[in-house]
Amino acid sequence: MDVIAGKVAFISGGASGIGLGIARALVAAGAKVVIADVRGDALDAARQSLGDEAHAIQLDVTDRDAWSRAADEAERTFGKVQILCSNAGVNLVGPTQDATFQDWEFCLGVNLGGAINAVQTFVPRMLAHGGGGHIVITSSVSGIFTGRGQGVYATSKYAQVGLAESLRADLQDHGIGVSVLCPGPVKSDLFESTPAVRPTRLAETGSVSVTAPGVSREATPIFATAMSGDETGERVLAGIRRNDLYIMTHVETGPVIEARSKAQLAALPDEPINQARVQASLGLLGTALYDEQTAKPRP
Ligand code: NAI
Repeated sequence: MDVIAGKVAFISGGASGIGLGIARALVAAGAKVVIADVRGDALDAARQSLGDEAHAIQLDVTDRDAWSRAADEAERTFGKVQILCSNAGVNLVGPTQDATFQDWEFCLGVNLGGAINAVQTFVPRMLAHGGGGHIVITSSVSGIFTGRGQGVYATSKYAQVGLAESLRADLQDHGIGVSVLCPGPVKSDLFESTPAVRPTRLAETGSVSVTAPGVSREATPIFATAMSGDETGERVLAGIRRNDLYIMTHVETGPVIEARSKAQLAALPDEPINQARVQASLGLLGTALYDEQTAKPRP
């Protein structure tokens, strides 16, 4: 999407952190933005900081009916939405085997359920208005590789990558681009917003705090060295302009991504390729990365 000026964007989880950084970058590029978030106070402060080109809507991304009302309000306020950033999220850390059913329901409900609701709400509207568009789904590097204590969160984030890659393949002939944002650590409210938005009916948890007892968030190494939300937002804007499938922000993650890809390739059987199988499956496997017509990776 070359031209951002004049476009309307809808950003869930826009009250702070990465979502607010994306909103700032889009407003600076001339877009109007609707920020939607469940935390009312943070939402008001964010809207004021963004100025008149922003509109705020209180929205719980797990509430499907509320999504529909929010989309109507966004269209009434600024007109057709052409940029959708599904970004709201929560983070749980702790041994996978200690996670409760309520941990799974809470984290998958917001991260995956929220992204599904965003897509279900806005894709039909984008197709109907016919003006094309771009969708960014905020996943994480935890959607590409994972490790200790990440089971619940990474499951939700891997699923978002699958959603984005599939959606991109399905929408590529409809003038709608799809990116998946996979950042490493970014300064945000995530440590505080996750417990704040957790419903009491889903309070039972096996997760642990990221900060050590008596150590402030600012002094916790993963936060102290993190990228700013604004810098992340600038990288998202560049990714939207270029229609990047993956918006990767942290070069430090490269060696782990490489190790994972190498391990998967090394696990393939050492035997000749069955060409008939290739021909038979390409139609099904035509993906955002691989062109079934040319049988080659997409440029
Ligand atoms: P943040 O806490 O600043 O922003 C997340 C926003 O989502 C908050 O404003 C929160 O109120 C909102 N939210 C949570 N549940 C919601 C619900 N049910 N309905 C509506 N809004 C809801 O944190 P951050 O880090 O900016 O998070 C944004 C996204 O980035 C999340 O999806 C997170 O998983 C992802 N991410 C964050 C990284 C980081 O290091 N901060 C790294 C990689 C991905």
